Amino acid sequence: MSQIPFVFDLEFAKQADANDPLAAYRKQFLFPQHNGREVVYLTGNSLGLQPVGAKAALQQELDDWAAHGVEGHFRAKNPWVSYHEWFAGPLSRIVGARENEVVAMNGLTVNVHLLLVSFYRPTKERFKILCEAKAFPSDQYALETQLRWHGYDPEEVLVEVAPRPDEHLIRTEDILQAIETHGPELATVMIGGVNYYSGQLFDMETITKAGHKAGALVGFDLAHGVGNVPLALHDWDVDFAAWCSYKYLNSGPGSVSGIYVHERHASNPEVPRLAGWWGHHKEDRFLMEKGFRPIPTAESWQMSNAPVFSMAVHKASLELFDEIGMPALRTKSEQLTGYLEFVIGEVSKKSSSIDLEVITPKEKKWRGCQLSILAHGSGKPLFDQLTQEGVVADWREPNVIRIAPVPLYNSFEDAYRFGKILEKAIA
Ligand SMILES: Cc1ncc(COP(=O)(O)O)c(C=O)c1O
Repeated sequence: MSQIPFVFDLEFAKQADANDPLAAYRKQFLFPQHNGREVVYLTGNSLGLQPVGAKAALQQELDDWAAHGVEGHFRAKNPWVSYHEWFAGPLSRIVGARENEVVAMNGLTVNVHLLLVSFYRPTKERFKILCEAKAFPSDQYALETQLRWHGYDPEEVLVEVAPRPDEHLIRTEDILQAIETHGPELATVMIGGVNYYSGQLFDMETITKAGHKAGALVGFDLAHGVGNVPLALHDWDVDFAAWCSYKYLNSGPGSVSGIYVHERHASNPEVPRLAGWWGHHKEDRFLMEKGFRPIPTAESWQMSNAPVFSMAVHKASLELFDEIGMPALRTKSEQLTGYLEFVIGEVSKKSSSIDLEVITPKEKKWRGCQLSILAHGSGKPLFDQLTQEGVVADWREPNVIRIAPVPLYNSFEDAYRFGKILEKAIA
């Protein structure tokens, strides 16, 4: 398929769908309707679609609650007392970790804070945090308030690496240079693995190496990376990471987040962490005694018992990921994103009034499936018109339209339909 030159017409798109080994998975998702037809849903980068299996999975837990009450912790079909353990396998395969390095828990920003408690431990010599400029606001606030919590002024100790003037992407060399410059004072590097605004996929392995060489700990917010791009957190030697499950992992609004902690930290009881009973050794958790003994895995960061209802949906979704595997998803993602980019280029070529500039990296190695479009000449009005015509995309201030063809459920025909609607909107 990648060898065949792209063509912006319906026949080509239909043929590409016919050749797509993952095409049947579209039926596993529920598409909102617009004027009696499925919308062109391109916001899996914001909220993934509902898997068909979600309702039954949730119903199972409601039924078990009705049938067993508190005994559901042990008698439910999927006993709640160990519910979260199921996720170690599928999540470790998605983020490239060992099973003892991941756990599903809490919400993303909460987890970023909990991880910073462990992995931002400033000393007199090392107290700076390095991140990308214009990180997602929640990350900015988390870093800012962590620094203030420790008595620092973020203006003085938060190092932000920005794109060069007149550029949209951050150069790896500039990140490495900043790490080297601030090295002796650097405590922690925390970057969004895929930037929410530009869709840029950072070179996490190289950044981790450089951070470690400087003596810092390195972590990533993978909200836009998880389930979207290939990850090898353990092999890259990343110290910590967190993600959400409601974007590419299709687990529903505000659904449970996940974390990764490298096993060298997870198994080290000297690494400080805020604790709750669900992180305590399982064999004596119910003895209700004094003295926290962390489970020697990422589970020890877990404080509370599992939010089973949101996890039920998460489980239904991750079963699909396990069935397909990230390599097959990535292969389709590269083709589909490439096709959508081509379609945008074709439409832009024909317009004399609007120049559509895709600011996401051109090299597929450095992007996932999100494309961020700067519509010079008309941003918001164009976006509003796309919405009226049945495209679900998203708008990010100050001037970007983000679209994400998700390989699990989007089709080449979706990309074609988007192109036709865009063409009409511009005309
Ligand atoms: C990169 C990034 N970080 C943090 C968040 C905040 O997530 P939550 O509201 O689940 O804490 C988001 C949400 O979209 C995000 O994209």
